[in-house]
Amino acid sequence: MNILILGSGGREHALAWKIAASPLTTKLYCAPGNAGIAQEAECVALDITDHAAVIAFCKTSKIDFVVVGPEGPLCAGIVDDLEAAGFKSFGPSKWAARLEGSKGFTKDLCKTNKIPTAAYERFKRAEPAKDYVRKHGAPIVVKADGLAAGKGVVVASTVTEAEAAIDMMFDGGLGTPAWEIVIEDCMVGEEASFFALCDGETAIPLASAQDHKRVGDGDTGPNTGGMGAYSPAPIMTQAMNQRVMDEIIFPTVRALKKAGAPFKGVLFAGLMITKDGPQLIEYNVRFGDPETQVIMLRLMSDLLPALIASRDGQLKNFDLRWYPDAALTVVMAAKGYPGSYTKGTVIEGLADAAQVEGVEIFHAGTRMDGDHIVANGGRVLNVCARGNSVAQAQQSAYAAVDKIKWPDGFCRRDIGWQAIARESK
Ligand code: AMP
Ligand code: GLY
Repeated sequence: MNILILGSGGREHALAWKIAASPLTTKLYCAPGNAGIAQEAECVALDITDHAAVIAFCKTSKIDFVVVGPEGPLCAGIVDDLEAAGFKSFGPSKWAARLEGSKGFTKDLCKTNKIPTAAYERFKRAEPAKDYVRKHGAPIVVKADGLAAGKGVVVASTVTEAEAAIDMMFDGGLGTPAWEIVIEDCMVGEEASFFALCDGETAIPLASAQDHKRVGDGDTGPNTGGMGAYSPAPIMTQAMNQRVMDEIIFPTVRALKKAGAPFKGVLFAGLMITKDGPQLIEYNVRFGDPETQVIMLRLMSDLLPALIASRDGQLKNFDLRWYPDAALTVVMAAKGYPGSYTKGTVIEGLADAAQVEGVEIFHAGTRMDGDHIVANGGRVLNVCARGNSVAQAQQSAYAAVDKIKWPDGFCRRDIGWQAIARESK
């Protein structure tokens, strides 16, 4: 089969690495890709927001299956457009992608279907929102509707802070003024990410993971797109995974089918594991980044048939096999990230680093400059490793990091610390 992956990050590199290894793959393309993905696939300089251009490429290159990485194109309806043009595609329709695109839609769906999540209210104007906050008190969580690249959430510890967040969101502090905000109770517990593959009718669990969002060691400093992750999340026991499937994932799949928007693709549930059990923080309608990088390392089975079964509505009797190992990834970012940073700095030692036992390096933001690999973004490399334990995976990942010569980059030195503390108990 000829396969096209859309996207250019570490997530897409991990997907390309796995799909390139499938015996079903004849030719693999990725648009636009990066320097690491180019080792697995032919990179194509396509503007993926231009659906007509993507469809034209699928025609000329006789693409049999398209795998969409990021949420932007999914929420813009690229799967609908590709399918209408006759190209089988992995991912949800525009209608089903509202699970990520609209917090209000998801919260209402949870309420109607008794899916556990924080109590909430939706607001279109600032004054009633502030009244609600004053009545409820803090801590309280203020969220802008719509895609905000992770910046649309304020966990306010005081009423004043919540009021300021409401004004900021309605006044356009996130770029464009929010047309609606959701205010919800603050949940207390441990966070985990859970991934399930859905085919419109049913779902199968993939794996769990935890990520480190803060830029600094000890989980300090500003939020980022993620500085590292590991899988599985120790808190996600077999019993907890089953509860998530029964209480959150299956009811969601059933509800969307009933609403006429069957969900196909990956459901990525951001969870709070509270003393009363798992609660949904939010849904994403795509693979996580950098969680996918560690999940792909743990997947023993061929990924491609599973993605095709998701598209074809054939997951009912599908089974995936996993390595029992843990996997961990350390993100290497350009100095200055998540603030301003320079691009184009040279990275060396990657081949050496990749020799470390159990290590796989996925590129998040790189490009070729002559014979050199250079940084081309904020998050630049995912140095991943598999091991018998999170501690062992961490040791291998940092052994590889130490072989990479990139004076303009940095990473956290404590990825996985919580899981390792738990392991050593
Ligand atoms: P989101 O973009 O919805 O994933 O939110 C970003 C982060 O804000 C989450 O990873 C949580 O750490 C936090 N958060 C969001 N909603 C809540 C909530 N209701 N209670 C506590 N923390 C939350
Ligand atoms: N790692 C979080 C995300 O992919 O949104």
